[in-house]
Amino acid sequence: QWSLRSVAAEHRLLTGFAVDPKLLQDPHYVAVVREQASLIVPENAMKWGALRPALGQYSFEQADALLTFAEQNRIRLRGHTLCWHRALPSWVEAIDSAQEARRQLTEHIQTVTGRYAGRMHSWDVVNEAVEVKDNRPDGLRNSFWLRMVGPDYIEVAFQAARAADPAALLSYNDYGIESETYDAEQKRSAVLLLLRRLKARRVPLDAVGIQCHISARPMYSYGPGLQRFMERVREMGLQIFLSEMDVNDREVDRTPGRQDVEVAQTYSRFLAMALEERAVTAVLFWGVDDGQSWLRYENGRDDQTRPLLFDQNLRPKEAFYAARAAM
Ligand code: XIL
Repeated sequence: QWSLRSVAAEHRLLTGFAVDPKLLQDPHYVAVVREQASLIVPENAMKWGALRPALGQYSFEQADALLTFAEQNRIRLRGHTLCWHRALPSWVEAIDSAQEARRQLTEHIQTVTGRYAGRMHSWDVVNEAVEVKDNRPDGLRNSFWLRMVGPDYIEVAFQAARAADPAALLSYNDYGIESETYDAEQKRSAVLLLLRRLKARRVPLDAVGIQCHISARPMYSYGPGLQRFMERVREMGLQIFLSEMDVNDREVDRTPGRQDVEVAQTYSRFLAMALEERAVTAVLFWGVDDGQSWLRYENGRDDQTRPLLFDQNLRPKEAFYAARAAM
């Protein structure tokens, strides 16, 4: 049987999953990741909340274990995420001077990217920095880092990452760009504005991650708006990663048989459309199996949610065959 990674490789794509290093104890889980993935990303293990228990302290065990696993299995690793408004430990949120916030951000990025320098596929340097609803002319989210460091925190983060690891691709990652809705168009414009600003200032940026937490709701459609956005990104010389894909099935028909078909069809349609764009070089799914998906909690502890490619017993679903066929 063809694996996802072998089919993707024929189209010069890397593919794989968000992984939890704690699940590497399960031989069944390990077997699926090994067989199917050419690229993995820690779902949480490289966030500040996991790496930074206290001021001046780093806890690298889980992250180290994941990189070792990847290297032993010839899988590339993407780092996620060096600068985000969420998953911040309370000692970070208690920082009360601009100078100290900037110092901590820079030190964190130097330490983390420096530790794994030369071994990473890419780093998601800044995540979700744009929020149109915050009503700033520059489109930036009114986040902890923006308030404390100022709008150039984004530039500071990218410079620090490039200096410590010149080999990794550096990406900006965001959501809300994927679907054909009015707010998506606003979000796309704001993200493009940010990317153009960064390029104009020669900030080291190689790629854009589009999260792709999409939905199987019948009223949602995917197409030309995203395609235009990706074209603009390509014209800037950037690669594109579909970085956190899953298909929310919260409002689909759940009669037996139907649910998995709707999810699979959404994967087919979306990937067939998005992979027409040649700047896309990687596709990551946000988890391996339905039993571990973050959407079980996001959808209000809904244990019938089936958004991923494998079921909770790690058997491939219709979605797996659909995604593989679309690559
Ligand atoms: C989510 C994880 O999946 C959860 O386990 C965690 O509790 C919260 O974060 N966008 C991102 C990811 O960039 O880091 C988020 O991951 C999902 C949304």
